[in-house]
Amino acid sequence: MKGHETHQRPATPVMNVLIIGGGFVGQCLADELLSNGHRVAIACRNRPQGLRHRDRWIQLDATDAVAFRKAVGWLRPSVVVLVNGPSDISECAKDPVEAARIHSAVARNACEFAPTAYKLLVSTDNVFDGRRTTCTEAVTPEPLNAYGRAKLAAERILHAYGGQFLIARTSLIYGWEEDQRGWQNFFALSIQRLAFAETLEVPADLWNTPIVVADAAKIYRRCLEENVTGLLHVAGPQRISRLDWARLLAAEFGFDAGLIKAVPVQASRYFCRPRNSCLSSERLPAMLAQWHDVTCRSPAEVAADMKAGLGTQWHIRAPHLPQPMADKT
Ligand SMILES: NC(=O)c1ccc[n+]([C@@H]2O[C@H](COP(=O)([O-])OP(=O)(O)OC[C@H]3O[C@@H](n4cnc5c(N)ncnc54)[C@H](OP(=O)(O)O)[C@@H]3O)[C@@H](O)[C@H]2O)c1
Repeated sequence: MKGHETHQRPATPVMNVLIIGGGFVGQCLADELLSNGHRVAIACRNRPQGLRHRDRWIQLDATDAVAFRKAVGWLRPSVVVLVNGPSDISECAKDPVEAARIHSAVARNACEFAPTAYKLLVSTDNVFDGRRTTCTEAVTPEPLNAYGRAKLAAERILHAYGGQFLIARTSLIYGWEEDQRGWQNFFALSIQRLAFAETLEVPADLWNTPIVVADAAKIYRRCLEENVTGLLHVAGPQRISRLDWARLLAAEFGFDAGLIKAVPVQASRYFCRPRNSCLSSERLPAMLAQWHDVTCRSPAEVAADMKAGLGTQWHIRAPHLPQPMADKT
């Protein structure tokens, strides 16, 4: 980890964090930890496209016990974060055995080879079957799909090994992203399609409590700094249907809402999702009330914030995207 020190000292002791998974969530969490003075290494099998912290990446198949042990022996992390794939719910449905194998092996290796490290597993609302409109930490999981079963198996491995860990079941995490992993999160896809005046098919009967990736990363960082343990549901403050969300984005950015076509979920790529992928928490609201540097914004607040930051945060070269005032002057 030599040379990995950062400039700003955190108010809390410096953590030495090994992040397994350098994708959408892993990279944003790395940004958040680094900008708060912590040390970070990002581990996955292939160098992620567009990786912002190239010097912090190590190549690791975290299912490989020998390689995992070596990496931990070298890095000596105080914290191990599990944000590895497979994360595509539809892909997991195609190969449930492989999805379960990977998530279980990574969780087992983390427990086996980093027994004293504090572990954070970013789990999912897909551990529930979606019959309830929302689920708190008190509800018993009952996964409907292969992805949910694989993540629940990983949760159970952490429980079985014990030690210090946090299972942060998180709702749909979104934010701007290029099409780097073969698919984009719903928010980015919707904006991309509508900005290019393309038809957007949206399931009308699918509900989420989405959270923007920057807010989720801040919550995870505070949890790590404060040694929050056990089970925590992490979700945005509003339950919203995909259809309403797409319409909200169209209205905020001035896109043609007529491009949005409601379809039944069974006819969409989201067919294997629970109807309600929604979480609420008995713990999070009290934490948020204490953490003044953390926000947990609704889709409307995020859209407004992002529109205000257009041009500085986004790189969409789309003819129909309104330009920010700053770019017009
Ligand atoms: N995004 C969401 O909405 C959301 C919501 C709730 C929970 N989560 C959870 O958060 C995690 C990350 O999600 P994401 O959206 O960031 O996914 P992502 O963008 O697909 O990133 C997954 C990362 O995991 C790595 N990975 C896969 N297999 C690996 C292995 N055997 N060893 C080491 N690294 C491996 C991938 O890189 P390589 O393929 O190169 O190894 C990639 O860097 C997932 O576990 C997901 O269940 C995500």
